[in-house]
Amino acid sequence: MIDPQLKAQIDPARLPQHVAIIMDGNGRWAKQQGHLRVFGHKHGVKAVRSAIETATELGIGYLTLYAFSTENWNRPQFEINALMELLVNTIEKETPTLMKNGIRLETIGNTDQLPKDCRQTLLKTVEKTKDNDRMTLILALSYSGRWDIIEAVRNISKRIQSGDLQPDEIDETVLNSALNTAAYPNPDLLIRTSGEQRISNFLLWEIAYSEIHFTPVLWPDFGVEDFCNALLDFQSRERRFGKTGEQLKTP
Ligand code: IPE
Ligand code: IPE
Ligand code: MG
Repeated sequence: MIDPQLKAQIDPARLPQHVAIIMDGNGRWAKQQGHLRVFGHKHGVKAVRSAIETATELGIGYLTLYAFSTENWNRPQFEINALMELLVNTIEKETPTLMKNGIRLETIGNTDQLPKDCRQTLLKTVEKTKDNDRMTLILALSYSGRWDIIEAVRNISKRIQSGDLQPDEIDETVLNSALNTAAYPNPDLLIRTSGEQRISNFLLWEIAYSEIHFTPVLWPDFGVEDFCNALLDFQSRERRFGKTGEQLKTP
């Protein structure tokens, strides 16, 4: 539940349609309390639940969460295993809640690389929730922006090779539709926690005109209020898309 006073500050007519989050800082959060990094990941799940609840309550249509990057495969095997186990357990446990709240689960990324039990659990929940239409929750798993763009270029090349497409027909629409994110609007708002001010190979193509909100809060501490503050920050921005401020004021 969002505090009514906080909720009243958010303009429901100017909500982002799509919010993407780089959930960062689990390891540092755990270290700060003298625990192993995995402890931070476990607590990060609570913040995931809270973000999903907040987005659903406000009526945000799409929420993309960066859960595991292509580069994260370079972490110690012990940590990778713990993250994969956490993923399976969380998806299994949360599926009834997703159903209850009308949330459709989808994934982007090279999910073929995930362990078999992870893939199966994900597939089951994706299938089960596919007709839900209140919000689409997109988990980025074994994902990176460059990986997706390379895959898209490969697919487009195959279409050209087969004569289905001419090189000069390639435009933004063609590239867009070859990406894993083809079915979603571009994120209006990108949030990154933990104080790092970088993109870390997240939605490179899609964030061309996203507003970016950086917060020092570590992911396990990221709560309803932090999410609402990011939305208020978003609503304070003037999105010009290359135009002048004056142009936006004249209809
Ligand atoms: C984000 O927290 C979770 C994943 C990348 C899977 P980190 O594990 O990156 O935590 P820090 O950044 O090391 O504190
Ligand atoms: C980005 O966080 C990836 C995810 C949140 C899943 P990282 O912690 O992996 O990013 P860097 O290494 O600090 O750039
Ligand atoms: Mg990190």
